[in-house]
Amino acid sequence: MAARQHTVKIAVVHGPNLNLLGRREPAVYGSATLAEINAALTTLAAELGVEVESFQSNGEGALVDYVQGAAERVGGFVVNAGGYTHTSVALRDALVGVARPFVEVHLSNVFAREAFRHRSMLADRALGVVSGFGRDSYLLALRALADHLFQTEHTWRAPPTSATA
Ligand code: DQA
Repeated sequence: MAARQHTVKIAVVHGPNLNLLGRREPAVYGSATLAEINAALTTLAAELGVEVESFQSNGEGALVDYVQGAAERVGGFVVNAGGYTHTSVALRDALVGVARPFVEVHLSNVFAREAFRHRSMLADRALGVVSGFGRDSYLLALRALADHLFQTEHTWRAPPTSATA
């Protein structure tokens, strides 16, 4: 198989309150901090041969701005929108609007929790949803999205121009 001409890049988006991971309800969300999760994602990305960048914000508008900007440089998104998962038309519109595949992630199993967490504004437009595996939810999502991007690379990137073509 020919070597890939481009690095596949994936953006990891963390929504509100995820900056508190490690000390926020550890029985629900685990003891890993956001920095530890991002470090694990960077390590896995290197193994998979992709690059990751991560962004966290507590603000809906900042998340929308980030998605719009990052879409210029990434093939897809891993998204834990936190509480905005259940409420944000704006974040949904941004993700759908930039037309990049995304995987919805939750540390907790949202379906085993309060009814208001069973509704997602994102899930029906996601490539898939990973929920309930703590830190590993992010890692599983990264693997799945990287596989998807490798398989579909020719459809979302123009073929490299060749001097001999
Ligand atoms: C969460 C689940 C959401 O319901 C909650 O609002 C969060 C975290 C999770 O990762 O389990 O902030 O997305």
